[in-house]
Amino acid sequence: MPLVTVLDHPLLRHKLTLLRDRGTTTGKFRQVAREISLLMAYEVTRDLPLEPVEIETPLETMRAEHLAGKKLCIVSILRAGNGILDGMLDLVPSARVGHIGLYRDPVTLQPVEYYLKLPNDIAERLVILVDPMLATGHSATAAAFRLKQAGVATMKFVCLLAAPEGIAGFTQAHPDVPVFTGAIDRELDSHGYIRPGLGDAGDRFYGTR
Ligand code: URA
Repeated sequence: MPLVTVLDHPLLRHKLTLLRDRGTTTGKFRQVAREISLLMAYEVTRDLPLEPVEIETPLETMRAEHLAGKKLCIVSILRAGNGILDGMLDLVPSARVGHIGLYRDPVTLQPVEYYLKLPNDIAERLVILVDPMLATGHSATAAAFRLKQAGVATMKFVCLLAAPEGIAGFTQAHPDVPVFTGAIDRELDSHGYIRPGLGDAGDRFYGTR
């Protein structure tokens, strides 16, 4: 599996443009992000293994298929990760959910964990770690380390947009965790925003600015 995959389905690209547009309202932003997340969940679960199962259709017995192996857990990096969670759960409603909260220490600039709630059996699950913006990559990198500490062996990281700097940092720290993104933008600015980007994802999701 490639280290970084840009999910470039035309519907996704169209919807990303709506997210980027500053004129998109909070309600519309939330709705479109949910639709994008569902499409992304569809793409990142493409390699889930299937196993045969015998079922009865109304007409006859048949050998059909259902999902085999590891069950899913989606882990959201608070708070903006929650905006992606809902769309993914639309597609995989039985997935378990974990949350991880990190803030940036103003002195060391390093991520500090302030909240963690994970399913007890997370080590046996395929984890999809979600955060809309892979900017510096510090939060996602720390979250992935924390999940590995909790025993997670198989993980994918999904974001809406990534900066080259975030991709470089994350993939260097976690070459075993494939990254899926809607686009790789030009750069990070001096305030840590992705350019051209879509602004502050948390604020756009929750209308806090
Ligand atoms: N976080 C955001 O919400 N937006 C950015 O551009 C960078 C980090």
